[in-house]
Amino acid sequence: MSVAIEASGVSAVFDQRVGTFGVHRRVVAVDDVSLTVKEGIALGIVGESGCGKSTFARLLLGLLAPSGGDVRVGGHELQAMDRRARARLIQPVFQDPASSLNPRRRVGEIVALPLRAAGVARGERRERALLMLSRVGLAPEMAGRYPGQLSGGQRQRVAIARALVLEPRILICDEPTSALDVSVQAQILNLLAELRASFNLTLVMISHNLAVVEHVADEVAIMYLGRVVERGEAGSVFAAPRHPYTKALLASVLTPEPGLGLPELPLGDAVPDPANIPAGCRFHPRCPAAIARCATEAPARGDVECHLVQPVPT
Ligand SMILES: Nc1ncnc2c1ncn2[C@@H]1O[C@H](COP(=O)(O)OP(=O)(O)OP(=O)(O)O)[C@@H](O)[C@H]1O
Ligand SMILES: [Mg+2]
Repeated sequence: MSVAIEASGVSAVFDQRVGTFGVHRRVVAVDDVSLTVKEGIALGIVGESGCGKSTFARLLLGLLAPSGGDVRVGGHELQAMDRRARARLIQPVFQDPASSLNPRRRVGEIVALPLRAAGVARGERRERALLMLSRVGLAPEMAGRYPGQLSGGQRQRVAIARALVLEPRILICDEPTSALDVSVQAQILNLLAELRASFNLTLVMISHNLAVVEHVADEVAIMYLGRVVERGEAGSVFAAPRHPYTKALLASVLTPEPGLGLPELPLGDAVPDPANIPAGCRFHPRCPAAIARCATEAPARGDVECHLVQPVPT
């Protein structure tokens, strides 16, 4: 079965109550996004905090039911798939292994747990868990330790081993290195790149750090306020960004702060708010190139969503 991921017009809307008086906010975290990840491709998703990256990841994992549209993997709708089938197909790696690993279970059990849920016999579970630990660079004696006894990098290796133990076809990584020491980040990225090749994975790599995405991605999607505003082959987008927002993102990393992600963007102080998405082009209040039309008319759909750029339909 092909494992291309197809998000069609997918949205996520949250009703939030905030503040002492419980003021109601309707947040459109992901807004009618259509995006295909071809089998075997590594797609990087980049954007500022709050633009909807993690929400989109949860939609792609089937962990969140879309408010509109659907996500299909190999032609099958994720929401209609049973949990076991989904777990064999697609797995997550999250930012903070300290909170995603059960502190009261030993590493060996943590890695073997998905196998138990999949009905694999005990002896085989142990063998496969140990094998997977070695694939992520952990010695067999680590199986007897608790997460609290490991370093951050080792814990993320455990999370990766757990994600891969069922040999899924797709891995969705949401900021997998953001909680780690800078010195360890590259090791984990290299490990993911190596495992991607040996397991033939389709990979989605979400990060607010462009360097991380550049390291692993074949294609890139730039998110702004719930939409993908530019997408394309990673090399071309990084070498010749077309959307003013992508240009600003790339300009901001000319003065990088290692490991801290995106420094202040040169975009003024109109902080984007997914509860108040601007009319017209949602980026226009911050756009250095905006023209009158941008305030009233939404740009056409395409590989770049901007009035000033001729898009290629996607
Ligand atoms: N379960 C939820 N309930 C209500 N609002 C939510 C929920 N999950 C996300 N949101 C809101 O959706 C918007 C997008 O959040 P999301 O976590 O997807 O952004 P992000 O791009 O991953 O940000 P970051 O880079 O900080 O991780 C935010 O305004 C957030 O408050
Ligand atoms: Mg996030």
